[in-house]
Amino acid sequence: MNIAAGKCRNEADMDTLNEALGLKIPQHVAVILDGNGRWAKQRHMPRTYGHKVGSKVVEDMLTVVDDLGVKYFTVYAFSTENWKRSSDEVGALMQLFRFYMVRLLKIASANNVRVKMIGDRTRFDQDIIDGINRLERETKDNTGLTFVIAVNYGGRDELTRAVRKLAADCCAGKLEPSAITEQVVNSYLDTADIPDPDLLIRTSGELRLSNYLLWQLAYTELYVTDCLWPDFNQEELEKAILSYNRRDRRFGGVK
Ligand code: IPE
Ligand code: IPE
Ligand code: MG
Repeated sequence: MNIAAGKCRNEADMDTLNEALGLKIPQHVAVILDGNGRWAKQRHMPRTYGHKVGSKVVEDMLTVVDDLGVKYFTVYAFSTENWKRSSDEVGALMQLFRFYMVRLLKIASANNVRVKMIGDRTRFDQDIIDGINRLERETKDNTGLTFVIAVNYGGRDELTRAVRKLAADCCAGKLEPSAITEQVVNSYLDTADIPDPDLLIRTSGELRLSNYLLWQLAYTELYVTDCLWPDFNQEELEKAILSYNRRDRRFGGVK
């Protein structure tokens, strides 16, 4: 089945079509794009080749999710634990970031996409930090899809940074500890202005979160596929969305 049959670029048309089909399109789709290394190994190629092909799949998916009517698309590009990999692999991933920061600026500007990076960017080389800041600054007023890239991201690191800031604000008298609510905690996270994901997709079959969006995934629907990320495409996304449509989201209540 091709959910995006007709390929409407007009959002109102797309919403009408989805409604007519009785389809719920998740507002926010988050992805753990896994399996680049295994995909390359199967082809007797270096792991870095898997990352290169995997990056192109991320780029292609931007149009697919946008056409389907998804409003927020968050991808896990590099975790706080991925620094443990060989310097060759980490170096190749940094080169890919450099390449895509320039390319994304053009793609996002042409397609009204707002790009936002989450994670601790301070650990990157200065040119990468500058590139991230520029990409966010120049796309911040775009009103279409919000594309969130998690780089040097870890859920525990994000919560630790948030707690540090919150504690500092309390010490400075800007905040009373008794005034700390879930909303206040949320406002200190990297994702403060982004709604929680409705659907999490993990490729390559692993049944774990790997430190991804630990706070935000509290009531997200989980979908794991054996498909390796470089093989992921519109058909695979549609399978995930159809599975999402069969879920009964109760949020702890009774229906
Ligand atoms: C995901 O693919 C991309 C990153 C973590 C950067 P992997 O590189 O983890 O691929 P596998 O899991 O080793 O196959
Ligand atoms: C999760 O994948 C991180 C990213 C996709 C960036 P990993 O391959 O690093 O996760 P583990 O090691 O299998 O848990
Ligand atoms: Mg992996």
